[in-house]
Amino acid sequence: MTSKNPPMEFLRGPRVVLCPLRKEDSPQFARWMNDAETANFLMFHRPLSLEEEEEWVNKALHMPITEGAILGIWLHSPFRLVGSIGLHSLHSRDRHATLGISIGEANLRGKRLGREAMSLLIDYAFRTLNLRRVILWCYGHNERAIRCYRAVGFQEAGRLERHSFINGEWQDYVLMEITPDRLKPLVAEEKPARRKPAPKTPAAKAK
Ligand SMILES: CC(C)(COP(=O)(O)OP(=O)(O)OC[C@H]1O[C@@H](n2cnc3c(N)ncnc32)[C@H](O)[C@@H]1OP(=O)(O)O)[C@@H](O)C(=O)NCCC(=O)NCCS
Repeated sequence: MTSKNPPMEFLRGPRVVLCPLRKEDSPQFARWMNDAETANFLMFHRPLSLEEEEEWVNKALHMPITEGAILGIWLHSPFRLVGSIGLHSLHSRDRHATLGISIGEANLRGKRLGREAMSLLIDYAFRTLNLRRVILWCYGHNERAIRCYRAVGFQEAGRLERHSFINGEWQDYVLMEITPDRLKPLVAEEKPARRKPAPKTPAAKAK
């Protein structure tokens, strides 16, 4: 999505930039939230109206930093909104928060944008907000998400077996955590394209 009213940049990485949400992005978020495949990985599991999404964006816009922060994930090139990421349930006494993320554009998943966005926000959580732990919950069947979280430095902290009924099956609900010492440095990496196997030489074919 291109826009005449560019968003405010907040955290910049090599491939993505995290920006405060804009009211005008509500229809895009609503479309993503109503996508059935995405819903298999999120706690949210019912139709969501545009009005509800606008309300959610509005709340996010006015969320005090003592409670958390929700940002849009924008791709640099071509410059467009591709998802959202946020810290919520921030606890000032115990200095922890819960992270949520979604790359809304299905064809952009698995390209290591998620881990870049997470590294940026978690670095901010530790080095600016002075948090000491970030946690998240995800479903056990969400292998892509778990690979991404481990790549950032998360480790499993607990598991509720067969806790959630998703698309006709019971799934585990996994708690993951990261502390400042475990955050891996942000590397500007794109998923390498899988190399085609080299054509066999006549000699190799004969073996
Ligand atoms: C979870 C999510 C944020 C991760 O972001 P991402 O940019 O897709 O993740 P990354 O590309 O950084 O990492 C994904 C890893 O899983 C791998 N992967 C991709 N598709 C996969 C699949 N279908 N099954 C298993 N692994 C998969 C990738 O190869 C990559 O691993 P690698 O770097 O070791 O090769 C994103 O996929 C997403 O928004 N998914 C839908 C909503 C969702 O699940 N939100 C999280 C709820 S807890």
